[in-house]
Amino acid sequence: MAKKKTLFECQACGFQTPRWMGKCPSCNEWESLVELSTEQIKFLKDSSGITAAPTGKAKPITDIDEDHLVRFSSGSRELDLVLGGGIVPGSLTLIGGSPGIGKSTLLLKIAGNLAAANQKVLYVSGEESAGQIKLRANRLEANHKNLYLLPEIQLSTVLTEIHSKAYGFIVIDSIQTLYSEETPSAPGSVTQVRTITFELMRIAKSLQIPIFIIGHITKDGSIAGPRVLEHMVDIVLYFEGDSNSELRLLRGFKNRFGSTNEVGIFEMNKSGLNDAKSMAGRFFDKEKLQSGSALTVIMEGSRPIIIEVQALVAESYGHAKRSSTGFDNNRLNMLLALLEKKLDLPLGTHDVFINISGGIKITEPSADLAIIAAILSSYRDRELSAETLFLGEVSLTGEVREVSGLAQRLKEIETQGFKKAIVPAKPLEQSSIKCFVADEVSKVVEWIFI
Ligand SMILES: Nc1ncnc2c1ncn2[C@@H]1O[C@H](COP(=O)(O)OP(=O)(O)O)[C@@H](O)[C@H]1O
Ligand SMILES: [Mg+2]
Repeated sequence: MAKKKTLFECQACGFQTPRWMGKCPSCNEWESLVELSTEQIKFLKDSSGITAAPTGKAKPITDIDEDHLVRFSSGSRELDLVLGGGIVPGSLTLIGGSPGIGKSTLLLKIAGNLAAANQKVLYVSGEESAGQIKLRANRLEANHKNLYLLPEIQLSTVLTEIHSKAYGFIVIDSIQTLYSEETPSAPGSVTQVRTITFELMRIAKSLQIPIFIIGHITKDGSIAGPRVLEHMVDIVLYFEGDSNSELRLLRGFKNRFGSTNEVGIFEMNKSGLNDAKSMAGRFFDKEKLQSGSALTVIMEGSRPIIIEVQALVAESYGHAKRSSTGFDNNRLNMLLALLEKKLDLPLGTHDVFINISGGIKITEPSADLAIIAAILSSYRDRELSAETLFLGEVSLTGEVREVSGLAQRLKEIETQGFKKAIVPAKPLEQSSIKCFVADEVSKVVEWIFI
């Protein structure tokens, strides 16, 4: 008798294996492997052909004509910026973010913009009724006769609708609520999401319609369940930020048509999620700086933004705690070890907490010096000057390294009316900012409370 075939699939990343394992070797998730039923295995086999590239003869690259990308504007300066200059026809984009961050709000507004620009737009929602969406559209002023709403969860109905009119833009809200009847598994499961994304990809490419997919994010920051989605789509954008503050950042993680360096900055108000006007003074309040606060300027894509970093250093009872929000915890541990070693600070007996204002996540090392300044300020319970900014990457040896785009950062500091900066090296260009060079961590102490 033939042995029954078994297949297990990771519900987080889609990894498949014939043996059950407690931990997925691909994404390290625990207990995420689920056994697929015979119908599911059969379905995968039957549909596996569709993932293969179209067969044809290979050609020398010199004989191939390049694609000409004709982008069009989404009507939002910030979204265009993250997309790399606008929407590319036929592209499939995933927008992820935690609940309530503004995914539906942003895309309904974009749908409204494009409808007003004479495109037929389809907004598919498996989450809200047409009436609810209409209510939001009224608030966002996104009402237009070219904007069609389809409250639906069945993939086949959605596909029929897409073929029925000459749509120029489609929004799917959200991928986890769509359901393909041909796939024998629950909505939101890896198999479902894979099939649906594949179908959407095929339709986007064949009809040259850009499709935006909304995806929910789990606590740990991955798109709920299916990380497979990220590999399949052309562009992946994630919302960041604190849902308590009105600023939201949209960061690119993958882009087949442009760079992922840029970040879109939006602000939430009652008329929706609009392009943020100016970043000046949005992430700090000069008047309210206390001990434990330090200012620095980070680069978000091509834009310098002044932010406040906060540290709280308190004597610890028992095991010293270290925790940070918006800053890498390992880097914090490294900086603390360095302070102990180079400055003889007894931080081993202190709890240290770091917070970056406005829900910003620091992804570059230039804020190291500001973190150190904030820690020293909190430890000594002494305020830093509200006129001084701290810039520099700190190495394991305690050397303060140069940061990229120093001139641009100093220009922003100047524009915003600051007077002094602690920098790793003398700037090449003239600036009205008084720069104090601290090329060693130990030197920071000399300048810190000026
Ligand atoms: N009437 C309103 N006035 C101002 N802001 C609102 C209003 N209704 C909803 N919001 C904002 O919109 C957010 C919900 O956004 P939404 O686009 O539904 O999020 P998501 O689709 O990412 O779950 C809420 O967190 C709230 O901040
Ligand atoms: Mg929503």
